[in-house]
Amino acid sequence: MPNLLINIDHVATLRNARQEAFPDPVEAAHLCEASGADGIVFHLREDRRHINDHDVVQLKRVVRGKLDFELSTSEEIVSFCCEICPDLATLVPERREEITTEGGLDVMRLHADLAGTVHRLTKAGIEEVALFVDPDLEQIRAVRDTGASAIELHTGDFANAVKGSEQFGEAQRLAKAAAFAHECGLIVHAGHGLDYDNYRLFSRSVPHVSEVSIGFAVIAQSIFVGLGAAVTDMARLVKGEHAS
Ligand code: PXP
Repeated sequence: MPNLLINIDHVATLRNARQEAFPDPVEAAHLCEASGADGIVFHLREDRRHINDHDVVQLKRVVRGKLDFELSTSEEIVSFCCEICPDLATLVPERREEITTEGGLDVMRLHADLAGTVHRLTKAGIEEVALFVDPDLEQIRAVRDTGASAIELHTGDFANAVKGSEQFGEAQRLAKAAAFAHECGLIVHAGHGLDYDNYRLFSRSVPHVSEVSIGFAVIAQSIFVGLGAAVTDMARLVKGEHAS
């Protein structure tokens, strides 16, 4: 069963909306781990719109499970990531105007930049470096040549698809991409838009996924049931402990 990593960016978004010291994403990370998460994900954006550098230092100190640092190839952020040395660094595309990450990296176009960044992160001692990509076989082939050890498959099109044949088609596209990545010797992660509803079809359809990164659905659900219960419920789903 895959590891469940919880993205706590949205806790920081809420904190920053009032420029308060709470809710504290570090306290949230602690509760997520105590409630069944295998690790924590954050995205340190260049504009620091949610997680900030201080949060990152504290997260490195308190997170006991796997710590996934999502980042762009910005020089400043890459240097900071090398200093922090998380368990996993996931390279993602980043545009200031976007509401959230839109689409995967164009690994073919950005090959030299990405390969150089993967090399720097690996040399700094980060054991696993992943590239966030769409379920596209050409892109996955290009990931293999960057020296990255893992991919994170972008599940956004699957999550946004209309239920029924469209969603089923997107699940098949992810399945093919995961099988191909596995054949290429890459570790397969997945995330973006996975929720309590679509996760069952995702897990039934897509092989070789060793880790999922889920944020928005869990933080949104926590408003109604509390963060601990929201994480536990998602962890049960990911570990296959829910009756289907
Ligand atoms: N993986 C990546 C690379 C992301 O950018 C995000 C969104 O921050 C996620 C996973 C989690 O997506 P969601 O918040 O929709 O669960």
